[in-house]
Amino acid sequence: MLKLRTLQELKDWRAGLDPTTSVGFVPTMGALHQGHASLLRTSVQECQVSIASIFVNPLQFNEGSDFKRYPRTEDEDCQLLAEFGMDAVYLPTREDIYPDGYECRVRPGPGGELYEGYHRPGHFEGMMTVVLKLFQRVQPHRAYFGEKDAQQLWLVKRMAQDLDLNLLVCGCETVREKDGLALSSRNAFLTAQQRSESVIVYQALCATRELFRSGVHELPRLNQMLTQTLQKYEQTEIEYAEVIDDRTFRPAEVGNPGPWRALVAVRMGETRLIDNMLLGTA
Ligand code: PAJ
Repeated sequence: MLKLRTLQELKDWRAGLDPTTSVGFVPTMGALHQGHASLLRTSVQECQVSIASIFVNPLQFNEGSDFKRYPRTEDEDCQLLAEFGMDAVYLPTREDIYPDGYECRVRPGPGGELYEGYHRPGHFEGMMTVVLKLFQRVQPHRAYFGEKDAQQLWLVKRMAQDLDLNLLVCGCETVREKDGLALSSRNAFLTAQQRSESVIVYQALCATRELFRSGVHELPRLNQMLTQTLQKYEQTEIEYAEVIDDRTFRPAEVGNPGPWRALVAVRMGETRLIDNMLLGTA
């Protein structure tokens, strides 16, 4: 597997590919786990050539401490990427992506204002800026993102459509631990007690989906199920827990069939967990 460290190396590699070759791209911030692996696997299956990127993007961290403590495990990551059959990895430096004098930003529309957008000011602007830059550099035909970060996936799809990007944004199912906790590099920061209590997030999503499937489409009851289940443990601080309309990424409304999605963000001590689940069409 090729390790490309500069824009020039990436450009040379890209220019050397036959124009008819389909290129799959998996952008990441490293600390790779089985959640990322599902994206890698899909890219390798669907595209003739696959490339990942590892870049801990300072622009999308609204808390400096989160950026500093973000795990950096380049050697292990590269080994995993090679095992999955990736052809190349782009490992740019901060200066390569944001050279001196850099100042432009991509601003999301209303779909980026609530939920993660509200609780992590600047996060989506930084995320969309780096994703657009990476797309421009890699020129992929397909790019793979996880449903775990549903609002991110939604915004990247929106950006691809609104800004006429000539690529397909593909969503991959959330990969979970046996007890349902969505895989995340931040899970490593949970204490043993927080880890055992964290299962409540998945349980709240499942309980809400069950209620929805049983025919209850009244939003107050669905939202109450979500919130009440999350309140089981005192230490869990809810940032948001709401059923949203998956077409607009705004709160679901009676009369708009959706599809609806249940969204959750909680804080367990220092660690933030986010998760979501599609409920269906109301
Ligand atoms: P990162 O958190 O490294 O995630 C990279 C990709 O892996 C994202 O598309 C994310 O949704 C997906 N992913 C993470 N955990 C997953 C899980 N348990 N199941 C399925 N997919 C999962 O998201 C980012 O990086 C950054 O914002 C990035 C897009 C790279 C831009 O900097």
